[in-house]
Amino acid sequence: MTTNTIPKLGLGTYGRTGDEGLAALLKAIEIGYRHLDTAQSYGTEQNVGEAMRRSGLKRGDLFVTTKVADTRLDKAQFMPSVRASLDTIGVDQVDLLLIHWPSHRDAVPFEDYMTALVEAQQKGYARLIGVSNYPAALLEKTVALIGKDKLATNQVEIHPHLQAPKLVDHARRIGLPLTAYQPLAKGEIANDPVLKRIAENHGVTVAAVALAFLMAEGHYVIPASGSETNLRANFAAGTVSLDAAEMAEIRTLDRGYRRIDPEKSPAWDD
Ligand SMILES: NC(=O)c1ccc[n+]([C@@H]2O[C@H](COP(=O)([O-])OP(=O)(O)OC[C@H]3O[C@@H](n4cnc5c(N)ncnc54)[C@H](OP(=O)(O)O)[C@@H]3O)[C@@H](O)[C@H]2O)c1
Repeated sequence: MTTNTIPKLGLGTYGRTGDEGLAALLKAIEIGYRHLDTAQSYGTEQNVGEAMRRSGLKRGDLFVTTKVADTRLDKAQFMPSVRASLDTIGVDQVDLLLIHWPSHRDAVPFEDYMTALVEAQQKGYARLIGVSNYPAALLEKTVALIGKDKLATNQVEIHPHLQAPKLVDHARRIGLPLTAYQPLAKGEIANDPVLKRIAENHGVTVAAVALAFLMAEGHYVIPASGSETNLRANFAAGTVSLDAAEMAEIRTLDRGYRRIDPEKSPAWDD
């Protein structure tokens, strides 16, 4: 198998540092995860590379994403930071390279780092490129600057309590798939009574229902866990099929509950 497209269900690696982090990544690969999502700012690029090598899998069988930090978007730092990521992971090319956050208040001109992103792909540093934490207005600017078909995804916070309908509508209109980060609302989703009932009916975990819902909505998902039990439960989401009534009921759970909203955030759509 060569992963030409983004696997539907991947693994978040935030916090998976040190030997414990490496062990969790290896366990995840053993369970079947093939997409590892890292970033320059997570301190996990090294563990991701080590896990890829120790897994014994061929390079083409694993899909790796990294992200250029918002502190390295300027012309002087952008390309060296991408080369440093490749060195740290120990690969010639990542499968997907994202802009982690747009530059706050345009401290770095938008055109500069979006052009650099395309250039990184042209140089062969990334097979696919995309963005993260971009609201619709910035997606529009991106399309105007580099065209409609260059981006593979926009990675944003989405879970059953933050379904981002305006952004989702916009992304669907321009044919851009979204990647749902923090898809379990950092584990909080496990307490939702509606999801609990649906999970009991299916004999699976609440997390698996949440992830199955997001995938059925057309999003990629990248849940994270350091526990084998939860890694397995989350991976099982790939086998959960929700019916139309269940999908409709879960859609009503959206309450615009955003967990990640730092000072540097752009103006969100929802
Ligand atoms: N682009 C961005 O700006 C951005 C921002 C945030 C995150 N991300 C990416 O998205 C990934 C996922 O986000 P996240 O790690 O913040 O949050 P998350 O995946 O929503 O939740 C992870 C938390 O939920 C718990 N958990 C996992 N599976 C569970 C289950 N089946 N039942 C109950 N609890 C469970 C985990 O604890 P245990 O370890 O004990 O299982 C962990 O504390 C990150 O690792 C990162 O790769 C990207």
